[in-house]
Amino acid sequence: MASSTALISDTEAWKDLKGHVEDIKKTHLRDLMTDANRCQSMMMEFDGLLLDYSRQRATVETVDKLLNLAKAAQLTEKISRMFNGEHINSTENRSVLHVALRAPKDAVIKADGKNVVPEVWNVLDKIKEFSEKIRSGSWVGATGKPLKDVIAIGIGGSFLGPLFVHTALQTDPEALESAKGRQLRFLANIDPVDVARNINGLNPETTLVVVVSKTFTTAETMLNARTLREWITAALGASAVAKHMVAVSTNLTLVEKFGIDPNNAFAFWDWVGGRYSVCSAVGVLPLSLQYGFSVVEKFLKGASSIDQHFQSTPIEKNIPVLLGLLSVWNVSFLGYPARAILPYSQALEKFAPHIQQVSMESNGKGVSIDGLPLPFETGEIDFGEPGTNGQHSFYQLIHQGRVIPCDFIGIVKSQQPVYLKGEVVSNHDELMSNFFAQPDALAYGKTPEQLQKENVSENLIPHKTFSGNRPSLSLLLPELTAYNVGQLLAIYEHRVAVQGFVWGINSFDQWGVELGKVLATHVRKQLHSSRTQGTTLEGFNYSTTTLLKRYLETSSEPQM
Ligand code: F6P
Repeated sequence: MASSTALISDTEAWKDLKGHVEDIKKTHLRDLMTDANRCQSMMMEFDGLLLDYSRQRATVETVDKLLNLAKAAQLTEKISRMFNGEHINSTENRSVLHVALRAPKDAVIKADGKNVVPEVWNVLDKIKEFSEKIRSGSWVGATGKPLKDVIAIGIGGSFLGPLFVHTALQTDPEALESAKGRQLRFLANIDPVDVARNINGLNPETTLVVVVSKTFTTAETMLNARTLREWITAALGASAVAKHMVAVSTNLTLVEKFGIDPNNAFAFWDWVGGRYSVCSAVGVLPLSLQYGFSVVEKFLKGASSIDQHFQSTPIEKNIPVLLGLLSVWNVSFLGYPARAILPYSQALEKFAPHIQQVSMESNGKGVSIDGLPLPFETGEIDFGEPGTNGQHSFYQLIHQGRVIPCDFIGIVKSQQPVYLKGEVVSNHDELMSNFFAQPDALAYGKTPEQLQKENVSENLIPHKTFSGNRPSLSLLLPELTAYNVGQLLAIYEHRVAVQGFVWGINSFDQWGVELGKVLATHVRKQLHSSRTQGTTLEGFNYSTTTLLKRYLETSSEPQM
């Protein structure tokens, strides 16, 4: 077993897998897929979901070795430590308890000796009450009109998760029905163009602004919040802010300082990481305003179902654990640096951007949790698009260029079925034909011999050959309700944690985002003094000086 300060790469289990790579290099998925027993052992079902990882470049032996690696990394113990509220985010001295955000009311989950579930439900109950007031029109704006439109201001984790869930629910029949006559928009970028897009067509009289920021100090969010505060006060007067602006934050002192009534602030806690916060008021408030609390509660229940599975299922049958281990296998042993997330569902179009932050901000680290430089790479480059759109964009590279392990995500029952009389299949079957075909195209490829048999001319054979042996996995969801969206989210959150636990890194801090922010502060000061006092540029290198000079000389941004 690895001691807490040892690197996982020093363990026998890691070395065993390193050696095993040579065995796998001799295999081809074309052959591995003929072994029905192997394939059957690589299917996992839970709560309506079906995971098929038989198209991974792995044998039953590989999986056994990965499970040994999990044991060497003390994975089960680390999962328990997370659920027990230990300060596993050691560099910030915090618990990691996003699972408490979706726990049933009677659950007991402790942080620093205190059960946090009652606090979670206090906030959820407050959101329920507030969102019902807004939706029913019993809370009105400064001029007496109901607030039918919401702009949620936030960035990173205070934006991407809520946007993903909103996009996924937009076409769910139940959610669609309950959102009638309402709009939810997201303002994230500090680019004034994003402000213009957000307020376009909206009337301050009927708009509620929700400022979402864990710290309430994020430069982009705070300037956007001041910009929309100005938009409201210019139209309705300063006193309208109390009726038209509310906040979600862990920093209620700064919320009050900003001018938002603390009664209209929705709290969360430092044990919720930004990128893991969609199940807190960060997501639950804007989504409840749009869809009603009862829909959002189903989303929380779906996530909670996976939490319970993750916490209590033995690792060999545990979906997030298996997914995490396979990702470690692909990155650290097979050397694949990227992962494509390919939902065959337009409703999941914002899933990959959300997982990009969950995964890359969590696992893009260079040192172990004890601060030791890592002799191996962690994290992967996550990207993705709804599958069929991707097929007509970057799949060329995936099929014949670089090897990118792919996650295919399919839905059995469409949110919006269409069948045109006379068509061979329904529109959803057409979509899903691609979902079922692509993994085999990647795994099997096409050989020169097959092409010769098809009388393909000799000069085209190299171009039309597909090497195959490209790994993927398929995840099939029964439908895409709020509940299933919650399940999908939690699977990926826990998979990322599993990867981090095995690599022995801290997946819950994000020091890497700080340096750029600090340097931007210097630039901001310089821009201000150059514009207002004509100060010459100082303290920048040749490159930045040249670029800044060009910017200052050729732009005439207005100054207060
Ligand atoms: O810059 C990265 C980050 O700190 C993320 O981790 C976080 O999700 C985002 O900024 C927004 O932070 P906040 O919610 O405090 O505004």
